[in-house]
Amino acid sequence: MSENTTPRVRLNAFDMNCVVHQSPGLWRHPEDHARDYNTIGYWTHLAQVLEKGLFDSLFLADVLGTYDVYADTNETPLRAGAQVPVNDPFLLVSAMAAVTKNLGFGVTAGTAYEHPYPFARRLATLDHLTEGRVGWNIVTGYLPSAARNMGNDDQMEHDERYDMADEYLEVIYKLLEGSWEDDAVVADKESGLFVDPEKVHEIGHEGRWFKVPGIAITEPSTQRTPLLFQAGASKRGLKFAGENAEAVFVNSPTKETLAQQVGKIRDAAEAAGRDRHDIKIYSMLTPIVADTEEAAQAKFEDYRSYADINGALALLSGWTGIDMSQYGPDDVIGEDVKSNAIQSSVETFQKASGEEGNPWTIRQLAEWIGVGGFGPVAVGTGKQVADQLVEWVRDTDVDGFNIAYAITPGTFEDVVEYIVPELQAQGAYPTSYEEGSLRQKLFGRGDRLPEQHKGAGFRVGQGSLV
Ligand SMILES: Cc1cc2nc3c(=O)[nH]c(=O)nc-3n(C[C@H](O)[C@H](O)[C@H](O)COP(=O)(O)O)c2cc1C
Repeated sequence: MSENTTPRVRLNAFDMNCVVHQSPGLWRHPEDHARDYNTIGYWTHLAQVLEKGLFDSLFLADVLGTYDVYADTNETPLRAGAQVPVNDPFLLVSAMAAVTKNLGFGVTAGTAYEHPYPFARRLATLDHLTEGRVGWNIVTGYLPSAARNMGNDDQMEHDERYDMADEYLEVIYKLLEGSWEDDAVVADKESGLFVDPEKVHEIGHEGRWFKVPGIAITEPSTQRTPLLFQAGASKRGLKFAGENAEAVFVNSPTKETLAQQVGKIRDAAEAAGRDRHDIKIYSMLTPIVADTEEAAQAKFEDYRSYADINGALALLSGWTGIDMSQYGPDDVIGEDVKSNAIQSSVETFQKASGEEGNPWTIRQLAEWIGVGGFGPVAVGTGKQVADQLVEWVRDTDVDGFNIAYAITPGTFEDVVEYIVPELQAQGAYPTSYEEGSLRQKLFGRGDRLPEQHKGAGFRVGQGSLV
């Protein structure tokens, strides 16, 4: 990208239907409202804040298990409220859609534990109700406790989880892209013909994990397949992303590691026969802003004083699959440690270095996670942070940022008040939304999956169906 042009910076918000998402301990802060996650009012207010700030979407993370990896017990995550208790993210979307017109919703759901048939219906339902503003964050899971509570001894092996996800997606594509032709619904009151049966096709899917002979039971929605988000960044995860993802969330503590990750994702898209920029990439970041640099720094110190180190270690253990209680605070994690959880997160922190180039100790990792999870924190005035965002986009080819909160909705309100106007002043951010569905807003080439996307190959007439 030329040094002279100001790149477009995209913003996405990162939240979860629980009290502690990425900043363990900060629910105790007097200005934090994460405790209100059980109320519709919290979510509708947040959606309106984000829409005011012209965010692309709200990404709702989710897990179906607990972080009992730490010391092999639920005690620490429960005490800290570390992503437990956690509610269903899908049920939040209708309420938020009702009070907004443009905000997108990237909702997380795993491919291991719910059959794709009812799930396809839920996706289609929300895509109808939001008029094409829904996205699905496809995850393969990382918590063994989720697998156990679904009746398995442990979760599947890492790469095999992605093999299953491949078939899961195939069923979803067949149902949402291939079962109903666009003009299948006739709704002719005179003749009484509602659906033309000739234009609705059985998908006849029979695979290793799923057998789905029949038709989809929903009619085509605005996007058909909702915008596909993904966040895995391991070698196998990258292949999956290259083939399927339209937006990828990454998590990199430094600009250098981010640039490498972005390059790998763009290579993976190309390897799957797509354009390098067919995937929008958002990097996690927690901004802490105020009127002056000193005030922002004071805000950061104030937030840090609420961080819960044990809660951070519980989260870290779950993300990496490594029980951090076995280490002392000054130990470092060896390079030979292998993970069956989020492999990319293990690689990231193994490579991460302290100021002197030494690998981080357990204490340093926990303190880092204390505010904003594993992503970087940007502290400063609105202009300073906006400048930093523009610089990161320019230097790494990332598309934008997945904004995690220190306190909610305070961090998001600060972004809208301090950072968005600065980005707009630099020409790096829009002043209004584009028209149309989430996919159209992001790529400007229609509501449906583009022709070169794997899912488009499952459309009627493409020969993939029986
Ligand atoms: C930034 C980021 C956010 C993620 N969010 C979730 C999530 O909300 N729920 C979940 O089950 N997995 C989540 N994951 C995990 C991945 O989606 C992935 O399915 C899995 O853990 C394997 O990742 P890997 O390919 O990096 O090993 C996230 C991963 C990253 C890097």
